[in-house]
Amino acid sequence: MSEQNSKTLAVYDHLAQKYIDNTTVHDSLNPAKAKKKRAKLEAFLLESFSKIPKGGKILECGSGGGKEALFLKKTGFDIIASDVAEAFLSSCRKQGLVTMKLDIINDNLPNGLSGVLVWRTFVHFAKEDLEKVFQKVYTALETGGVFVFNVFNREDSDVDEKWEDFPDEYQMGEKRFFAFYSEDFINSLIEKTGFKINTFFKQGGDSGRKWLCYVVTK
Ligand SMILES: C[S@@+](CC[C@H](N)C(=O)[O-])C[C@H]1O[C@@H](n2cnc3c(N)ncnc32)[C@H](O)[C@@H]1O
Repeated sequence: MSEQNSKTLAVYDHLAQKYIDNTTVHDSLNPAKAKKKRAKLEAFLLESFSKIPKGGKILECGSGGGKEALFLKKTGFDIIASDVAEAFLSSCRKQGLVTMKLDIINDNLPNGLSGVLVWRTFVHFAKEDLEKVFQKVYTALETGGVFVFNVFNREDSDVDEKWEDFPDEYQMGEKRFFAFYSEDFINSLIEKTGFKINTFFKQGGDSGRKWLCYVVTK
């Protein structure tokens, strides 16, 4: 594991609840926009995992407050919400989710998965972390299994990586590590690992290209 990821996990270890509260405050600033964004994300998740039979096992890594895992559970998937910080796991458990304390860089993933979701989590992963995790996800998935993830787009950043504490409602009080990846780098990692791209698009931010979003299959 990179020092960047371990130091960022140490921040979440005591500030995870602050992250959850910030998300709530952010959404309350423009509820209509937040509702529209959520509906779009949920439609995307549903479409992405549509090839998986209902009841198929999906692992979410870095579940945070658990909103995406809860949505997938409600739509009939057997979802495991996982994270490292106790406050995140506790938030997920309170919503009735099955949880697993899982550091996806250092710990073993459960096998026989139909799907893996890593949403807004690879932002804290250095290249070495990403390479390791892609291989682990590939091994954990059944043939035909679906891997859904996003990364920050390097095109939308002046730097490859930075330590930052965002202002206003996103402020945590401590800096976290953020990495930005090019489409070329991610595509070559996908190919090297053995995945096939199903869906790819850019979205978000003022530019409309803040995120690179992928649905790939084994
Ligand atoms: C920006 S938050 C995103 C949380 C949630 N997916 C969301 O969209 O709100 C990043 C998440 O990555 C998790 N994370 C970072 N490094 C991790 C690792 N090595 N293993 C598992 N989770 C990790 C953090 O604990 C945190 O929940």
